[in-house]
Amino acid sequence: MARRKQIYEGKAKILFEGPEPGTIIQYFKDDTTAFNNQKHDILEGKGVLNNRISEFVMTGLERIGVATHFIKRVNMREQLVRQVEIIPLEVVVRNYAAGSICKRLGIEDGAALPRSIIEFYYKDDKLGDPIVSEEHITAFNWANPQEIDDMMSQALRINDYLAGLFAGVGIKLVDFKIEFGRQYEGDMMRLIVADEISPDSCRLWDLETGDIMDKDRFRKDLGNVIDGYREVARRLGVLRENGNAGSKGPVLVSDNDEK
Ligand code: TMP
Ligand code: ASP
Repeated sequence: MARRKQIYEGKAKILFEGPEPGTIIQYFKDDTTAFNNQKHDILEGKGVLNNRISEFVMTGLERIGVATHFIKRVNMREQLVRQVEIIPLEVVVRNYAAGSICKRLGIEDGAALPRSIIEFYYKDDKLGDPIVSEEHITAFNWANPQEIDDMMSQALRINDYLAGLFAGVGIKLVDFKIEFGRQYEGDMMRLIVADEISPDSCRLWDLETGDIMDKDRFRKDLGNVIDGYREVARRLGVLRENGNAGSKGPVLVSDNDEK
């Protein structure tokens, strides 16, 4: 097969030209970074797990009527996605306090927030993705007020869906980050969920033990990073017991959680 044209290489993914106009191949790397690339490692198998987990989550979102860029998984590391004009914002939804909000506002790690909180960060590695307000977003034309409303209502819907999905397999959804892109069809434009949804972009804690199962294992040097990701995949039912990825739906973990 002729090698495809590379469009972009990010910290955890590579984008190649897709087979048809308006499509892209998204390749999941094993590269893992934190603190704006200050910390970097290659964690073998991470890309394969994130490809599967993101496929599972995006497919579930499509099923409840949230439009995403996901079309289909192509192989262990690649998925076919819709090409979008990415909005340069990271949309974070928080249910419990962790990470930057604890530092910024002096909240205790793990505290339940009075309600789900949505934050916007401006995607710019040079600036370290600073938090921004709606004022900045509209003044600098990163998105218009209607798009902000749309992102906020979609983000809350996604939060409800994900929180329930993860709670069903014994996982607390502490927070997560999503990105949106504009998809043009004729003279119509809609905002769809892009990028990935995986343990790289969510904080996931075991509901009973509080064990961290996401990228904070890497950020905080807790070790066994991939074991955490694999356990998330296993509970969601995207890993067969022999370790091969497959799809058999979520696994009940409440009683007799056999390993
Ligand atoms: P934060 O507490 O560091 O602001 O992170 C909030 C959530 O967003 C957390 O689930 C991790 C995720 N996140 C990303 O996916 N990419 C990023 O660049 C950052 C800073 C956070
Ligand atoms: N900011 C991302 C994170 O910490 C990755 C990175 O900055 O290199 O999740």
